[in-house]
Amino acid sequence: MKHEAKNFNHLLGKLAGFSEKMLTAHFTLYAGYAKKLNEIEEKLAKADKTLANYSFGEFSELKRREAVAFNGTYLHELYFEAMNSKKTEASGALKKAIDESFGNWDEMVKDMKATASSTPGWVLLTYSKVDKKLHTYIMFEHHIGLPAHQEIILALDCWEHAFMIDYGIGKADYLTAYFAAVDWSIVSKRFEHAMKNQMV
Ligand SMILES: [Fe+2]
Repeated sequence: MKHEAKNFNHLLGKLAGFSEKMLTAHFTLYAGYAKKLNEIEEKLAKADKTLANYSFGEFSELKRREAVAFNGTYLHELYFEAMNSKKTEASGALKKAIDESFGNWDEMVKDMKATASSTPGWVLLTYSKVDKKLHTYIMFEHHIGLPAHQEIILALDCWEHAFMIDYGIGKADYLTAYFAAVDWSIVSKRFEHAMKNQMV
């Protein structure tokens, strides 16, 4: 299939703490990943599999970067799609899971912020099919670090491009703005869906 970057221009001027300049630059980077994903998939379809090699080979190099472009595309969608100027509340089920997994809501936010301080990449809030609880994990680059059996319900972009235009090195202020922009109704829908997927 051909991957197409979605249009998130409806967010411009709507998110407190996210300038149009920063969001527009971010949308451009996101679209670049979708373009590269198409390019990688097209080249993989034609690459000679008999020349695959751990040290170097066209198929092997493309295969090694495939998940970068894939997650570079779809993690950004998880990020932008769960942002909104509307102040929405998490569902009762999600709030209960947060309490059971982290102790309380504030501890979940504290955990995500501490995890954000630990990586230049992504912070993911996941539903684990292993212990049926919520967890935070770090994803380096776009593709390294996600444990098995996780359903992503929130993806927080902590790459410098996500905040430096507006905040410089003030990552903590970016995180404050981010949590004010999260659309918890979307996260609740993802959680509801994630719970239906169990280990088989
Ligand atoms: Fe990003």
